[in-house]
Amino acid sequence: MTLTVLLAAGDGVFEDYDAPLRAAIAKQGLDAQLVTDAPAQTVDYIVYAPSSPLQDFTPFTNCRAVLSLWAGVERIVGNATLTQPLARMVDPSLTQGMVEYVVGHVLRYHLALDKPATSWTPVVPPLAQDRCVGFLGLGELGRACAGALRALGFDVAGWSRSPRQLEGIACHSGTEGLRAVLARSDILVTLLPDTPATTNILNATTLAHLPRGARIINPGRGTAIDDAALLAALDQGQIAAATLDVFRTEPLPENHPFWHHPNVTVTPHIAAATRTETACDVIAANIARVERGQPLLHGVSRHNGY
Ligand code: NDP
Ligand code: OXD
Repeated sequence: MTLTVLLAAGDGVFEDYDAPLRAAIAKQGLDAQLVTDAPAQTVDYIVYAPSSPLQDFTPFTNCRAVLSLWAGVERIVGNATLTQPLARMVDPSLTQGMVEYVVGHVLRYHLALDKPATSWTPVVPPLAQDRCVGFLGLGELGRACAGALRALGFDVAGWSRSPRQLEGIACHSGTEGLRAVLARSDILVTLLPDTPATTNILNATTLAHLPRGARIINPGRGTAIDDAALLAALDQGQIAAATLDVFRTEPLPENHPFWHHPNVTVTPHIAAATRTETACDVIAANIARVERGQPLLHGVSRHNGY
């Protein structure tokens, strides 16, 4: 039987995915055709990205799973027409990209590379062991980044919704746990999904719990930060600098103060990209699992919203 896989991922993606996805599915011993349009009842799987206009999943009555090309699923998880199982992207290349982004920006702040010397006044940075990097979010990406920084010798703490135990990382959860992580984070990295519970988690109150002069790196989602509160904290020196990859509105509007703030580094949502080759393997493996009657990997909880 030939599986029909609908690529609902916006313009220009089909050419990238067609051959590698069919090849990856063939490696799993299955045969598939990749389409951008087909009678809904004939579709077995949907590969989805938020740039797709597809919003009504009701007619896809034989679709066995929707497979997101994105790790963050906030733009699909609440879709009331989506009754099919939903998987998000967990891809080794995406994880590697995020590790490189986070380690790079942590080291930049740690070594004060963002503030080159202007006179011969030696300021020796502390060693990694004397610098605490805190993580909000200890999921696939948070854990990988935290582990990489731990391996470099940093003092690493983290916060998640459910309690976790990770070797060498001080793990916390709950309201008191959030306060404990913030209180010791010289550099704070946010890798939280966009859910009602994480919206504005960094606000005037919580930013004040960080040590004075802390740095923030946010490659998670823009909604985690109250923009006005961050700008005020930057102007007051409570936060020394921030590197922001994700925003409430993307592209970040030209007149947004983040573009011009001397202590804000903007990157245009490039911290970690889904790479076609590895993503195809992940999607094909998940399709093969469902075809074999095994549970979907990286399934999204509608209840938790991620
Ligand atoms: P995961 O789902 O694996 O991890 C999410 C983490 O956040 C988990 O540790 C989870 O806790 C924690 N969390 C969720 N809700 C809460 C809450 N209310 N309170 C405390 N902790 C919470 O996601 P990933 O690590 O794969 O990705 C994280 C996010 O990164 C994505 O959702 C996406 O928004 C963003 N992203 C950004 C990219 C970019 O290029 N900028 C690229 C890819 C992803 P628990 O462990 O208990 O479940
Ligand atoms: C993602 C992203 O969620 O690129 O994959 O932000």
